[in-house]
Amino acid sequence: MAEIKVHDKYFVPWLSEEIIQQRVKEIATEINTDYAGKKPLFIGVLNGAFMFASDLFKNIHIEAEISFIKLASYKGTKSTGQVITAIGLDMDLTGRDIIIVEDIIDTGKTLTEFLPQIRNQQPASLKIAVLLHKPEAMVHPIHIDYCCFSIPNKFVVGYGLDYNGLGRNISSLYQVKE
Ligand code: XMP
Repeated sequence: MAEIKVHDKYFVPWLSEEIIQQRVKEIATEINTDYAGKKPLFIGVLNGAFMFASDLFKNIHIEAEISFIKLASYKGTKSTGQVITAIGLDMDLTGRDIIIVEDIIDTGKTLTEFLPQIRNQQPASLKIAVLLHKPEAMVHPIHIDYCCFSIPNKFVVGYGLDYNGLGRNISSLYQVKE
């Protein structure tokens, strides 16, 4: 696979479609085992997680539901700073087994701010499934229950992730060329 140009930057091949699909299946198998006899609700975070959530969910063979939300950040008051709101979070989460499906955890800020909104609704359990995690970038530590790949602190595109709105349709992952 050769390097590609997305918007104004060059990217080099990083994780092939085969490797991603294999790992997503492994994570789905873990979830199938861990949630046997339960009926979890997967909540995919748009836009980035749409491909991961779809492939993961196709490999879930227990009773399960899926829904999607979008996170939007806006400037709150001086004391609250950036505030994250969830668009489309209209299901009753009380007593449910929730699995948040995210594309990537970078600094951890987004989920650190958003997770209390889920916990407030008193789910029976709350776990996090992510495609990618950049351990070196983490400044707001979050416990990740299911992680497909830990990656270096470099910008990546493909498999749902974008650079300037482009690249989400690529079925493998590319890393920025330095
Ligand atoms: P935090 O820092 O809050 O960031 O954990 C999570 C969100 O930042 C975006 N992000 C990326 N998007 N390639 C992308 O396409 C990357 O390498 C990358 N790193 C962070 C992403 O939207 C994620 O949900």
